Amino acid sequence: MEQKNHDHSVVDSKFLKACDAPLDDFNIEPFTMVIFGGRGDLSRRKILPTLYHLCQDGKLPEEFSILGFGLPETTDEGYREFSREAIEEFSPRSFNENDWDKFSRHLFYLSADLTRGSECERLCHRLDELAVGSEPERRAIIFYLAVPPKLAPVIVENITQYNLCKGEFRTKVIVEKPFGRDRPSAIKLNQLILKGFDEEQIYRIDHYLGKETVQNIIFFRFANSIFEPLWNRRYIDHVQITVAEDLGVEHRGAFYEQAGVVRDIVQNHMMQLVALVAMEPPVGFEADLIRDEKVKVFRTIRPLDETHIDKFTVRGQYGPGRMQDKEVPGYREEKNVAVDSKTPTFIAAKLYVDNWRWAGVPFYVRAGKRLPKRITEICVQFKQPPLKLFGRPCDVLEPNLLAFGVQPQEEIYLRLTVKHPGMGNQPYMVNMDFNYDKTFDIKKSYLAYYRLLIDCMKGDLTLFARQDGVEAMWSVIDPITERWENTDPPDFPNYAAGTWGPKAADDLMAGDNYQWRTW
Ligand code: BG6
Repeated sequence: MEQKNHDHSVVDSKFLKACDAPLDDFNIEPFTMVIFGGRGDLSRRKILPTLYHLCQDGKLPEEFSILGFGLPETTDEGYREFSREAIEEFSPRSFNENDWDKFSRHLFYLSADLTRGSECERLCHRLDELAVGSEPERRAIIFYLAVPPKLAPVIVENITQYNLCKGEFRTKVIVEKPFGRDRPSAIKLNQLILKGFDEEQIYRIDHYLGKETVQNIIFFRFANSIFEPLWNRRYIDHVQITVAEDLGVEHRGAFYEQAGVVRDIVQNHMMQLVALVAMEPPVGFEADLIRDEKVKVFRTIRPLDETHIDKFTVRGQYGPGRMQDKEVPGYREEKNVAVDSKTPTFIAAKLYVDNWRWAGVPFYVRAGKRLPKRITEICVQFKQPPLKLFGRPCDVLEPNLLAFGVQPQEEIYLRLTVKHPGMGNQPYMVNMDFNYDKTFDIKKSYLAYYRLLIDCMKGDLTLFARQDGVEAMWSVIDPITERWENTDPPDFPNYAAGTWGPKAADDLMAGDNYQWRTW
């Protein structure tokens, strides 16, 4: 194997001079993106608005085509109208007619049944038409599988059979999460994709990795020297990660019934957050070097057996409740959800990363829908000082905390004890903080997909999952979903919408003398 030379020497500051190499120096080549599920929910909310922003910001080349592909009958014109409405509704920017005109002429639609191979012929013709004028070697095609997981295999089989992924085309395929529904199906799906694509053509997308604050974890840890010596079991007491949503399943009941919170959030977003906190420093900032380190974390998460699952995991499903002064329905009353559904919408769990750095440090994770707030946060709690020198005997000193706010506040803060002004020796907690909005004074007006779609077009796989990582994540998850699916929950629904989940989640923490973060 080729050995790469990673020169990471840090230049002595007295020799430091400003670097004049341009930032973001890249060119995206002309391409056609085929969006399977082009009229689906994901396309409407995320993909189309993001492509519009990229075009608006001049990131896309002159020549590109976006071909929506899906069952609903419509024309190119109809698709443009659909896209316009989607962008008006879901873009964080105000709508601009001129930019829309420039963008909309690149939009096309093919109404066909994704699952019928013969319809791929029509796709071939359409691709030929769209690629008119471009030289064969410049015909880059990105297939975006924005479809429910069960449709991915048949689409991949069809595009492979029709030789759309090889030959004159240079192709990439973007596969949405969850990749498979357990480890065996993820392996099978991957084998199918590998018949048509090589690993470096496969972009397994997880939009959490496109969020600024998620990317910043790795910067924060490895671009500063002061935290790394503390980043281990000697100084860290425990880690808490919360992915809380105030929304319910909305109109995605059919998908969610199959997925549940574990496949929807934990297997991908949550595992990625755990990996970014727990990973070792990579030897370079290259896709595979970073992904190697993440995979090691997934492999060292302690597998849970049935007894541990019963003891260290809590599942929940929301019932009706009140949120922002409005009555909201329970999960079982949502559209396309079974009236006696056993699907969990909440999880709390205690995990261990069994390696030298983290042995004995619990990682408490929780995720759920219809919780009181939308908040994603990673909180690292440090150990107490060895002696309590300050305060009255009854004062409880808060430990130091380092919190990464992923959303809605994008911030990092360190909680410290200082002396309260006055004659006494009273300890007082303060925050040292860094906040994106305040520091950079930029109004972030794009979605997490922005960075990921550019990276895919550029061919940078750093922020995409690799197959060994996906399999290792499923290995952590599968025992939990299996156990839960084989034992009926006795008490569903067990938390009211608008509350922080079932009581058992608090008991899990209380049993270890901790409590969940509150905001
Ligand atoms: C998606 C899940 O991956 O992430 C949704 O399928 C969830 O169920 C969403 O609502 C949350 O994303 P964000 O960016 O709003 O935290």
